[in-house]
Amino acid sequence: MGLLIKNGEIITADSRYHADIYCEDETITKIAQHIEAPEDAEVIDAQGKYVFPGFIDPHVHIYLPFMSTFAKDTHETGSKAALMGGTTSFIEMLAPSRGEDLMEGYELWTGKAEGNSYCDYSFHIGISKFDGNTEAQLREIVAGGMASFKVFLAYKNFFGVNDEELYKTLMLAKELGVIVTAHCENDELVAQLQQTLLAQGKTGPEWHEPSRPERVEADGTHHFATFLEMTGAKGYIVHLSCEPTLKVALEAKSRGVDLAIESVIPHFVLDKCYAERANYEGAKYIMSPPLRDKENQQALWNALAQGMIDTVATDHCPFDLEQKDMGKGDFTKIPNGMPAIEERIKLLYTYGVSRGNLSIHRFVDAASTRVAKLFGLEQKGQIAVGKDADLVIFDPNQRGTISAKTHHMNNDYSAFEGWDVDGQITDVTVRGKVAVSSGKFQGTKGRGKLIKRKTAGA
Ligand code: URP
Ligand code: ZN
Ligand code: ZN
Repeated sequence: MGLLIKNGEIITADSRYHADIYCEDETITKIAQHIEAPEDAEVIDAQGKYVFPGFIDPHVHIYLPFMSTFAKDTHETGSKAALMGGTTSFIEMLAPSRGEDLMEGYELWTGKAEGNSYCDYSFHIGISKFDGNTEAQLREIVAGGMASFKVFLAYKNFFGVNDEELYKTLMLAKELGVIVTAHCENDELVAQLQQTLLAQGKTGPEWHEPSRPERVEADGTHHFATFLEMTGAKGYIVHLSCEPTLKVALEAKSRGVDLAIESVIPHFVLDKCYAERANYEGAKYIMSPPLRDKENQQALWNALAQGMIDTVATDHCPFDLEQKDMGKGDFTKIPNGMPAIEERIKLLYTYGVSRGNLSIHRFVDAASTRVAKLFGLEQKGQIAVGKDADLVIFDPNQRGTISAKTHHMNNDYSAFEGWDVDGQITDVTVRGKVAVSSGKFQGTKGRGKLIKRKTAGA
């Protein structure tokens, strides 16, 4: 049975026009001014609504053992929340720690997702050490279709790699044509600053930001860029949070370093005052890099509008209030991360497009089309004949309110509780099947599939 989307306004990264879309066997097979519905077709009337390509979140954590606990979502809850928020595919980091075997980690993570996800997904291969087995294992995993690596220049002794390991990773990535995503902070400075602050009795969540100041992120970014320059590998900075880091990244790009930049939705709309809230409420807002001074936000919006920041992700990494309590009396023990996978598109549209910070085309580009291009998701990110029928139908005339009472993420708080948003996602399709219909979830568990990607060098 085909699916016909009628009367909508199609909005892509570079065009907008009214047309009908017909989908058969998972793909878009026809786009035309008027398509007559075959008798057995399912029809969605998108009159007065926008039709966007399915949004792609390039940075999420679903299964994540981290800071002595586990992120709260499962692939079932995380992918349902993603779809309710208009995200039809995500890229998760598979993240074995230094003590674990990479291949076992690959099997663990892919096994957790398989049969459980409602939406499509892929993985960045987290590299937390580079020992005698790593190169051969990476070659095998990349040949199997995982075309991006993830390294941490932070979280010393857990995920973090040393400089020798970073160099070897980048040399192999260059050879294989794999893009390397990186969390950039100087981990030694973070460790020293944390100890200094704790020794001064500064133990609350408000001290998280001073323990990882802007300059520490800028320094980590400069370090990564220098390694990219020396190896010729292609890099991607995740969750860039502030203007000093942006300047460092853009300076590297201007001298020819092959680098793309991601920022995440919390950094555009929340500032460090939230993490300074009294009575330990600030713990809800602890993530790394931390929420920054508000002045940074306009610099991020401007860079995003001009395409200097390439993509907007979430860094979705939910911990509930009980887990956040692990850091009472010692902010370094607050699990880092926030739930956001369901809210990225609503917030980016409201605070970007509606508030005049972002064109609607750059919105689509940053949250879908450019993500697909950077990470080799060839079937995703576009509305075109032959592409996967991943579509988001959006009513710009409705409004909504964000709340933990109504969200689908497996978490007992929302960092955006009570915030009003412009527009509503009404319908979502994944490869031609309706997963959200008139705002109601009707996805199929296990239908989401692992997206295999080709490397630039393959
Ligand atoms: O605070 C964060 N960002 N938590 C998730 C792990 C990471 O650094 O991406
Ligand atoms: Zn990170
Ligand atoms: Zn992350």
